[in-house]
Amino acid sequence: MGQPSFDAYREDVAGRANVADTPELVAYYERLAKLGTGALWTVANKIEPWEPASTSVPMLWRYNDLREDVLRALDLVTPEQAGRRVVYLENPGRSDVVAAVGWLYSGLQVMAPGECASSHRHSASALRFIMEGSGAFTNVDGHKLTLGRNDFVLTPNGTWHEHGVADDGTICIWQDGLDIPLMNALEANFYEVHPDLNQAVSFPIDDTTATWAGSGLRPQGHEWSKRYSPMLKYEWAPTYEALAALSRVSDGSPYDGIIMDYVNPVTGGPVMPTIGAQMQLLRPGEHTRAHRQVGSFVYQCAKGSGHSIIGGKRFDWQERDIFVVPAWMWHEHANASDTEEACLFAFHDLPVMRSLGLYREEGFGENGGHQPLI
Ligand SMILES: [Fe+2]
Repeated sequence: MGQPSFDAYREDVAGRANVADTPELVAYYERLAKLGTGALWTVANKIEPWEPASTSVPMLWRYNDLREDVLRALDLVTPEQAGRRVVYLENPGRSDVVAAVGWLYSGLQVMAPGECASSHRHSASALRFIMEGSGAFTNVDGHKLTLGRNDFVLTPNGTWHEHGVADDGTICIWQDGLDIPLMNALEANFYEVHPDLNQAVSFPIDDTTATWAGSGLRPQGHEWSKRYSPMLKYEWAPTYEALAALSRVSDGSPYDGIIMDYVNPVTGGPVMPTIGAQMQLLRPGEHTRAHRQVGSFVYQCAKGSGHSIIGGKRFDWQERDIFVVPAWMWHEHANASDTEEACLFAFHDLPVMRSLGLYREEGFGENGGHQPLI
């Protein structure tokens, strides 16, 4: 056996650690290790890379591949047993923290008519994007929200929430998105089950959208100071209408096409302090230029079909497919159709990056803004 190596991260660049092992240094490093210490120059270049180095890999989950097994969970476990009957999406680079990408968790939840999961609350912020079925609902702090296809709903951190499907509904599948890995990384995660298991409906059904979803209008006499959007639910029809209207008067973003953020109507800021969300529309034939951002993204195709090139790799998607873009990785999107629009929903951790002053983005300068394929 040779000597242990401590100089694996040397870089021959002025200002970077560049110390070759010698027998004397190795003996010194071994003495430091016994004291619960180490020499920073042996790891400095590893722990402070030149730019963000995500351990997540870009990947895509095809809904057609997952759907049967998600439905199978209906026969295998009850919501009472499982708490939440979910098949989660695992990034091979992040299996230790059960993340789909970066510090974001995602899964597909399935519920049958008449089922209702028990009410709970947690430090993690959560959202749901409805994939299929009718009659789904979420109760958030007593506000019951009815949910249809492509609706987006929040269950912000600290709010009591439960999900179910009405007796006269159909089997429903939705995508969950949470910041569980981030809460655990921050060692800030609490979880509680509601003392009554299910909470009362304390407000008129769908009161949050009736109150706050008037576009460009704010209700008088309704104060709101919590750190998340009082709207809680964002329906597909007005979202799509807003994108279609914008596409008639704007060229949109060269990197994202026609793109809009879901916002807190009181502040104009993100829907929750740690998770933001957006919907974008790629016009027929559109292929955007590549850019990269500090932050992780989980996308779901809400309409149409196309492909994205992420880190030089092509991923083809169609309605309901989910894919992820790791932090600081080049990505561009293309609509497959010359006649139909394509829409991509995404949630991300940009509110965290922005509130900590860490957000950056950069356009891909070469090759007309398009990455070479690997
Ligand atoms: Fe939850």
